[in-house]
Amino acid sequence: MGSGDYMATDNDNSLAILFGSQTGNAEELADSTKKLANKAGLEAEVYDMDGFGAANLANHKRILIITSTWGEGEMPDNAEDLWSSVCESSPQLNGVNFSVCAIGDTSYDEFCQAGIDWDNKLLELGANRLTEIQLCDVEFEPEWQQWVDKAVPAMAALQIPLESTEAEVVEAPVVEVVAEVESSKSDTKSEWSAKNPYYTNIIQNYVLNGEGSRKETRHIVFELGDSGLDYKVGDALGVVPENPPHIVEELIQIQGWDRDQKVTTHNGERTLYEALKKDFEVHMASKKFVQSLADKIVSTGLKITLKMVSRSRSGQQWSASEQELLPPELAPSAPSDSPADKVEHLIADQKAMEDYLWTRDYVDIMREFSAKYTPEEFFELAGRVKPRLYSIASSHDAHPGLVELTVGIVRFSYHGRDRGGLCTQFMADEIGTGLQRVGVFMSPTKSFVLPKDTDTDIIMVGPGTGIAPFRAFMEQRVFDGGSGRNWLFFGDQSSKTEFYYKDTIESWLDGGHLFRFTTAWSRDQAEKIYVQHRLKEHGAEIWEWFENGAYFYICGDKTYMAKDVHRALIEIAIEYGGMSEDDATHFIEKTMMKEQKRYLRDVY
Ligand SMILES: Cc1cc2nc3c(=O)[nH]c(=O)nc-3n(C[C@H](O)[C@H](O)[C@H](O)COP(=O)(O)OP(=O)(O)OC[C@H]3O[C@@H](n4cnc5c(N)ncnc54)[C@H](O)[C@@H]3O)c2cc1C
Ligand SMILES: Cc1cc2nc3c(=O)[nH]c(=O)nc-3n(C[C@H](O)[C@H](O)[C@H](O)COP(=O)(O)O)c2cc1C
Repeated sequence: MGSGDYMATDNDNSLAILFGSQTGNAEELADSTKKLANKAGLEAEVYDMDGFGAANLANHKRILIITSTWGEGEMPDNAEDLWSSVCESSPQLNGVNFSVCAIGDTSYDEFCQAGIDWDNKLLELGANRLTEIQLCDVEFEPEWQQWVDKAVPAMAALQIPLESTEAEVVEAPVVEVVAEVESSKSDTKSEWSAKNPYYTNIIQNYVLNGEGSRKETRHIVFELGDSGLDYKVGDALGVVPENPPHIVEELIQIQGWDRDQKVTTHNGERTLYEALKKDFEVHMASKKFVQSLADKIVSTGLKITLKMVSRSRSGQQWSASEQELLPPELAPSAPSDSPADKVEHLIADQKAMEDYLWTRDYVDIMREFSAKYTPEEFFELAGRVKPRLYSIASSHDAHPGLVELTVGIVRFSYHGRDRGGLCTQFMADEIGTGLQRVGVFMSPTKSFVLPKDTDTDIIMVGPGTGIAPFRAFMEQRVFDGGSGRNWLFFGDQSSKTEFYYKDTIESWLDGGHLFRFTTAWSRDQAEKIYVQHRLKEHGAEIWEWFENGAYFYICGDKTYMAKDVHRALIEIAIEYGGMSEDDATHFIEKTMMKEQKRYLRDVY
């Protein structure tokens, strides 16, 4: 689209782009949308929904909403006030044109619900839906691109005379809305957020695994100092990571950049070193970067041989094998050794692109292609640093002034270079105790909460790092008293090396606080035993607890474990509840989960 193609000079060209975002994805898309909209001749502004008044909606004739969904189909934190206030005040939005881009994750039942809610609400309030809502899955870029390719030209094509802006403004009453959340201590909005994290010290950081373990799981304790930060059990802590210094140094060196050069990023002016360390994720390469190589190669006429590395997945283990030749599945369409052809091939074949990126970071790719970028070009292509969330493993009542986590450190090695997860490596390797401050904020949950009645029984299933919130739940249940029974299912590879919090768990058992503790050690015997197997073994008793009103909680791996546990519950309902497959599914997914809200999940 040519710049200004659609715009008349006496038009009101303004466009408001509102984002609802918890960890920065929707915000980043909002900024990218703004750039494209401005190229199309619009005067686009990006607005954080937090602080955007409901009455102000009617002052904009063009509105694009980009929002994620959180919890179980809920608004992200920064959108909650605006959402409740719009629902309460119902501003009249005739004359407003809008389109919604919703990002989410199809593995959640309420896929993109927040975006769907906005889409329906704006229509209900009289606004004109200019283009259809776009629902985007985890890999949201291509779907967002489809949306922006339709929504922006449609917005730009609107002729809105300047004078009509003021004439048509509908002054909706400003309503102070207090969200209708049941009072619970951490629901009061904190001044600390993903955008404005509280910088604090880690005061304890130790490995929970026994010697010889293949894993590195750490217990990490942060001070809350004078932040005023509070939390309830079930909440998560947001941690703002930084890139490993050695990768930043390698990047600067390979590109021949000046580390002290002053640059401007979305976080303002800073040195190039600081920008690479804190503002962009440089530990893993983006698709956009590989795509950009196509132009680089054409413009520089590079002639370099690309070395493909294939990956293979077996279960949850990943391995890479280096080959000078392309992997067999790529061979038929594999082009010559022309770098341009190879980049084209990666761009055209999504799987080849994923395989390629799985084992490479920017340093690898820059080396392979000898491609040179200016820092500014690189900033356009790299993803922004986003905070990671961790289920809180402590009760604030039991540990005043502290917040504790159980973190599985992600490490892997390819092409002779050690690398791994951004945030987990940052916490494990860079942040000693008290050496460097780290930015944190609270991410409260509304759904993953203990039953109000302390006499209610609970069943907790938390293998691996999934134990985290249940350590917190147990501490809270001990603190609160009450006669509700607690049954914990825990598991990992081996009782010798992965029995996290063993002493604490034994003390709960000794004290009568933990009624039952069931373990599933997958590698302590010939056949693999996981928590879902243990659940089924105890099916009759679990069913009895369900009939008695027990709550069921699950935390940990979303991809495999949560699905297997879910299936085990349905089978228990069939076998011990005497239900048909359909009735059992309805009971678990609708009755327990949605209506009674006593099957609760914190899975990632
Ligand atoms: C609500 C919530 C609660 C959570 N609670 C916890 C918790 O209590 N404890 C916990 O440990 N985590 C928890 N997580 C996960 C956590 O947020 C991070 O996703 C996790 O720690 C990894 O972050 P990272 O920055 O270290 O890794 P990232 O830099 O984000 O990298 C992770 C990515 O690395 C890639 N990768 C992994 N292995 C390989 C490999 N072998 N080769 C190539 N690439 C690979 C994968 O693409 C993976 O997605 C939670 C997540 C959510 C959303
Ligand atoms: C704890 C949690 C709950 C989520 N709940 C939903 C959900 O109910 N529906 C959905 O479509 N996506 C859900 N998501 C996926 C997010 O919407 C998705 O990760 C999105 O990219 C986050 O964007 P943001 O960084 O802008 O907030 C959830 C993610 C997490 C971590």
